[in-house]
Amino acid sequence: MTQRLLALSRKQALNLVAIDTDRLLSNLEVLLKLTLGEKYDVDVAMNPTTWTCEADLAQLENAILNLALNARDAMPRGGELRLEACNVELDEADVATQPDVVAGSYVAIIVRDSGVGISRENLPKVFDPFFTTKDVGKGTGFGLSMVYGFARQSGGPRPDRKRAGSGDERKAVRAAVEEGSGCGGS
Ligand SMILES: Nc1ncnc2c1ncn2[C@@H]1O[C@H](COP(=O)(O)OP(=O)(O)OP(=O)(O)O)[C@@H](O)[C@H]1O
Ligand SMILES: [Mg+2]
Repeated sequence: MTQRLLALSRKQALNLVAIDTDRLLSNLEVLLKLTLGEKYDVDVAMNPTTWTCEADLAQLENAILNLALNARDAMPRGGELRLEACNVELDEADVATQPDVVAGSYVAIIVRDSGVGISRENLPKVFDPFFTTKDVGKGTGFGLSMVYGFARQSGGPRPDRKRAGSGDERKAVRAAVEEGSGCGGS
């Protein structure tokens, strides 16, 4: 709990290491398949052009697991979970509303599910600490506020939450440390 509160207040020390997101996501794919079980189709899209990025590995894994567990909860009868990473270039206009974010090269991690999605009314609240639509004892409402705190502490912009069709998608973005070619199609 202390770690979680520190992460929320963005005061936790980050242990930055170089991360190959394809390798990270394929390792997590195995774990997620075992954890979620047969009802879930876990699909990791490999993208060899994604830059190596710098982040706290344990916290990044934790953030992705939080998103995957939310996806599972949104698909009680099973469904598809898709993970991928890609390069993102943010220019001055992109970061204009986020004063502590520097324009430049970032890597986005995208987690998408085929679940019920988030209602228009709840969408602005999902990153708030303690916001949950789950039954008492099931959700604490901390998962996404942790993801938010971590993405911001890592130098990335606000994670994006989208209602794409019936599912939803989030991006946790963090600084890229290596140049490479852009990614297509996401
Ligand atoms: N993939 C998703 N699909 C639909 N709704 C979602 C999804 N992810 C989050 N939500 C909504 O956002 C709320 C907040 O998510 P968050 O992860 O912060 O808390 P939680 O999952 O309810 O609890 P905890 O993560 O602490 O167990 C959820 O209760 C749910 O209503
Ligand atoms: Mg959660």
